[in-house]
Amino acid sequence: MTSLLNEPYRLESLPLDTPDDDRRWAQFLDAIRSPLLAPRAGEAGLQVFRDHRRAGSARLRMVTAEGPGLEGRVPVAGFNSSDRVVNTGAAEMGVLAIETIGVRVSHRRRGLLTVLMVEALGEARERGLPLAALSASEAGIYGRFGFAPADSWRHVDVETRRVEFRPDADVASGTLEIVDPASVKDEIVKLFAAHRSRHRGSVSPGHGDVMVISGQWDASAQSPSTTLRHLAHFDAAGTLDGLATFTPRQLDDPPVTAEVGTVLAADPAVERALWRGLAGIDLIDVLSYDQPNADDSLDWSLVDRRAVKVTRSHDHMWLRILDLPTAAAGRSFAGAGAITLTVDDKLGFCAGSWLLEVADGRAVCTRAEPDDPAAPEVRVGVETLAGLWLGGTAPSTLIDAGRVSGDDEALGVFSTLFATTGQPRNLSWF
Ligand SMILES: CC(C)(COP(=O)(O)OP(=O)(O)OC[C@H]1O[C@@H](n2cnc3c(N)ncnc32)[C@H](O)[C@@H]1OP(=O)(O)O)[C@@H](O)C(=O)NCCC(=O)NCCS
Repeated sequence: MTSLLNEPYRLESLPLDTPDDDRRWAQFLDAIRSPLLAPRAGEAGLQVFRDHRRAGSARLRMVTAEGPGLEGRVPVAGFNSSDRVVNTGAAEMGVLAIETIGVRVSHRRRGLLTVLMVEALGEARERGLPLAALSASEAGIYGRFGFAPADSWRHVDVETRRVEFRPDADVASGTLEIVDPASVKDEIVKLFAAHRSRHRGSVSPGHGDVMVISGQWDASAQSPSTTLRHLAHFDAAGTLDGLATFTPRQLDDPPVTAEVGTVLAADPAVERALWRGLAGIDLIDVLSYDQPNADDSLDWSLVDRRAVKVTRSHDHMWLRILDLPTAAAGRSFAGAGAITLTVDDKLGFCAGSWLLEVADGRAVCTRAEPDDPAAPEVRVGVETLAGLWLGGTAPSTLIDAGRVSGDDEALGVFSTLFATTGQPRNLSWF
């Protein structure tokens, strides 16, 4: 790999077939853990990291350096990504999932992140991925690279004693059972696939998601989990169609709270059955859950909607469009019509003028003549398009925020064309 950096820095990669006893594994992992203030991984954590990365065919990029205090040439910045797929409404699209980024505090603000990001996005685009995604430690970092928050999560505390579904809320019949984690491990990917086929914004799981949800790995304990419990839902034929995980906490300090790790089901009626099952567990007063959909229907389906207390909301998936025509072909559109999008993109991937023509919910996006637009024209940053791509933010909100410019007619067409119903729902981590 050719380095774009000056000495002492070099852009390199850590191949996945690097022998386990090569010290660069531990150095790479610490290059991303130490900036995130995480403790050093032990042997078990290091092995799990290698397993995750190999199972996900990850790409491990790093910037290495040598100098005083460094034992030879060592990674001082790490960038860890793998390819996933995401439902964008009309198709599943390839997405570069950027899983962890870290730059040693002693090497920050020297452009290392920039070099790693530009190289990774360019290579992903060359391989034909139309999208990239990450989750951001701070909101001020990734807009400059064309990312914007594309979904919205909310943290809820649900009072178990007040959970009663309205008669008109469909709760799946079937069987609930507390199951052995080993029995569901192989089903988790299938449950994610069913969820993804139904919900826009749903991203395929990484190997780490499967390990954590199945209890094979507890990152804080750095070992398999002994505390995670699994509540499964089976349909009338005995097929597993939903899974919730929970960890009881504060057993000696009421209210007794269970942290819900996931509620994974394609069908909202099965989700409700899982919630009813969780709420019915003796001794648990509160179910605490980071819910991947700020617009979730749980509260509206209860007799007492105040059983669900929203304690905070936050973004999770930051999206980046790398290939606008391909991304547009995979997005569902509610409206019909045509618009000229003049897109600002400092990294160049989507820069320029595009004609977006929508009919029957599907779009065709082609290069447009900037001086002679065939349709009303708006000017928009590529990160703003990413913000509305999955339906997480309404186009009208972004227009109100001053992030889209054009005349009234063009803004009206933009609003109509990009409007979507429902929030994106993503249950996987990166
Ligand atoms: C955030 C981090 C990855 C940035 O790496 P870096 O190598 O210092 O970044 P760069 O030098 O390439 O900076 C690129 C640009 O981002 C800006 N920037 C970097 N970190 C920033 C931050 N935390 N907040 C706001 N802007 C930031 C820089 O000022 C620079 O701006 P410019 O393009 O206008 O000059 C690094 O500081 C780090 O690892 N922080 C702690 C862990 C973390 O937050 N990791 C990210 C997990 S998502």
